[in-house]
Amino acid sequence: MTSISSFYRSSVGCKMVMALTGIGLVGFLCAHLAGNLLVFKGPEALNHYARTLRDYLPILWVLRVGLLAMFVLHIVSAIRLTQLNRWARPVAYTNKKNVRSSLSSRTMMLSGLVVLSFVLYHLAHLTFRWTHPEFRELGEFDVYQMLVMSFHSPYVAFFYCLSIVLLMSHLHHGIVSLFQSLGLYHGGLQPVIRAAGAGVSVLLAMGFLSIPIAIFCGWIGL
Ligand code: HEM
Repeated sequence: MTSISSFYRSSVGCKMVMALTGIGLVGFLCAHLAGNLLVFKGPEALNHYARTLRDYLPILWVLRVGLLAMFVLHIVSAIRLTQLNRWARPVAYTNKKNVRSSLSSRTMMLSGLVVLSFVLYHLAHLTFRWTHPEFRELGEFDVYQMLVMSFHSPYVAFFYCLSIVLLMSHLHHGIVSLFQSLGLYHGGLQPVIRAAGAGVSVLLAMGFLSIPIAIFCGWIGL
């Protein structure tokens, strides 16, 4: 038990936890996107999907608790790792050149904070329906109409698009980092992993962006 907690408190342990929870969170995003893309099939398909999830409520709650645990562990490990890095180098570099580090890698904490704020807003918006009290008058499973009403607003559509772009910048670097943490980023695998990181984050971004854009432009609606 003590060895598990001292491993977790070490820099290698934190990186491992960030990598494993990162894989879980990317898995959630893929599943969430696949469900949300049903909006393009029409109201019946999307609302039926939302209703089916509720038919398996105990399983849904297990998944929700797992998802929350992954979020919390990911954030706590990121904070811990930043602290450990500061302690390891208490004096800042006098001439810090960002040689070979990409913009997304230098802004991981910032993009992570934006993702966290987005998720909190997103839950208040679509899960708890606090930001749009008028949604409470819709049926419990009318997710389709909720999305259409939301993304007709340029502010909501723009905020979602901006958050998704920043989330994907976070993912782009995160996917490469997780392979480094797992000790798999070497030799001929490096270009493949970099391409996979870029490919997965761009595909997820395009998928998520397509929803507010299609609704705002009136390509799908009521
Ligand atoms: C255009 C993009 C997105 C759309 C249209 C969308 C849509 C939705 C909807 C409709 C719900 C509520 C489902 C329900 O209560 O039946 C939901 C929940 C949720 N979304 Fe999203 N989402 C998007 C992007 C994201 C992103 C990028 C993340 C993560 C960074 C995310 C994380 C979540 C979480 C954690 C929940 C709560 C899940 C639960 O309560 O079971 N979503 N989303």
